[in-house]
Amino acid sequence: MERTFVLIKPDGVQRGLSGEIIKRLEQRGLKLIACKFLSVSQELAEKHYAAHVGKPFYAGLIKYISSAPVMAMIWEGPEAIAAVRQTMGATDPVKADPGSIRHDYGILISRNLTHASDSVESASFEINLWFTPEEIFPWDRCSDPWLLGKN
Ligand code: PPS
Repeated sequence: MERTFVLIKPDGVQRGLSGEIIKRLEQRGLKLIACKFLSVSQELAEKHYAAHVGKPFYAGLIKYISSAPVMAMIWEGPEAIAAVRQTMGATDPVKADPGSIRHDYGILISRNLTHASDSVESASFEINLWFTPEEIFPWDRCSDPWLLGKN
């Protein structure tokens, strides 16, 4: 089973969309195995976005992500990385497919509501950056056979 890291960014929290975003991932069949609400320090923001140092949007991105509390989560499921990114939609909300979170609730790339890992490597890096092993809770879900059963 694959794991992926998801962040509800400050605009998602401030706009009261955390429940909606979690609901959509739950309805898809993904399983929440870690979740915390926190303020992002400059140091954590810089580590998280280290790959983007030097890009024109980098400074604004660091300021935005550390401007107000975020919800950090780990979701688990088959092809969880691709499934979550599909549910979120394209990075730029005006390019996101109808029905995706960024399409349905966003209009600007600088306020695109969520972050989700884009590869196995980034998921592993981000999960280890944001969570300790003690903060992760795999669990048996009674609906698993109906969501994940293979014939
Ligand atoms: S790139 O250039 O392809 O590497 O960028 P990308 O992977 O699409 O995006 C990296 C993160 O930067 C955010 N981003 C922006 N923020 C503000 N303004 C602009 N123009 C902009 N372009 C990209 C984008 O949302 C990505 O952050 P996360 O948290 O992963 O969504």
